[in-house]
Amino acid sequence: MTYETPEPQAVCNPITSSAIFLVLTLNPTPESAQTVRDWFGDVAGLTRSVGKRVPAGNLTCVCGISANAWDTLFDGPRPASLHPFREFGEGERLAPATPGDILLHIRAEQMDLCFELATQMMAALGDAVTVADEVQGFRYFDMRSIIGFVDGTENPEGRKAAHFTMIGDEDPEFSGGSYVLVQKYLHKMDAWNALSVEAQERVIGRTKLADIELSDEEKPSNAHAALTVITDENGEEVKILRDNMPFGRPGAGEFGTYFIGYARSPSPIEQMLENMFVGRPAGNYDRLLDFSTAVTGGLFFVPSADLLEALADR
Ligand code: HEM
Repeated sequence: MTYETPEPQAVCNPITSSAIFLVLTLNPTPESAQTVRDWFGDVAGLTRSVGKRVPAGNLTCVCGISANAWDTLFDGPRPASLHPFREFGEGERLAPATPGDILLHIRAEQMDLCFELATQMMAALGDAVTVADEVQGFRYFDMRSIIGFVDGTENPEGRKAAHFTMIGDEDPEFSGGSYVLVQKYLHKMDAWNALSVEAQERVIGRTKLADIELSDEEKPSNAHAALTVITDENGEEVKILRDNMPFGRPGAGEFGTYFIGYARSPSPIEQMLENMFVGRPAGNYDRLLDFSTAVTGGLFFVPSADLLEALADR
């Protein structure tokens, strides 16, 4: 059966309490490529099998494909804006590109569902892939990031979320798809906690307890919530959809944020990274980066659910 509008993957689904982020590289053999292509046809079925057992668990899986993997796996047309992750900044303030061909963003209300689906996915992929990075993220109190501020407030909702994340007529062959950019950040919690709450609020641009935006007079131009507000050529604000998750290992002194941003083109997310790491204007960079280091970076195309299934036969 064919429908006029392709069914998207679960990009705009509500934010959950648990997530697993798996970044995989493709092993360089023809059999690996065939296994991964076949597996694209199984992603939705595996997610249904695990998810149906706990309907209230809201299990979903979004699968992304990097530019290099796309070229290895498929001939023919490619998503118009798909390219390898571009690095921003330098030295201590660098957004590095790190290896990754396939991204799995697995979300649910409970970690056991994420865990079981990740297990089934890895079993199906077998030795076709190598795990480059694996992170288990958790809900931290009332939607707080690990640095104590509510994260996700200014996300677009409803039709706006779809408008800002779904490819439309600009690339008809790939409509219903999205782009997704991920980065793993580690925080210097001692230095962050040494700041007063008021100083932290000036870094983020919002109040800590009540999550209210600082006024224009109070909010510095290098606040995180100032540099990540961008507009298009008509002066309209351009949003992205974020589903960041805290992660960490207190025993190892590791405290992190897994950043994940969806958009209908990579460019708004890249503009935000430029503002954060280089600065707007250059030098007026995001103070959050004095307390946070990006250790991974990857850009992926998220085909519509229909295209993902069809890719198995390409
Ligand atoms: C170090 C990792 C990060 C942390 C802990 C973090 C945390 C936050 C917090 C607490 C807010 C304010 C509440 C909200 O509206 O969500 C926020 C806003 C925002 N962040 Fe981040 N963020 C991180 C990285 C990034 C990155 C890498 C980007 C984009 C490339 C980004 C884009 C945004 C955007 C677009 C907003 C909303 C701005 C607005 O409309 O007011 N963030 N972030």
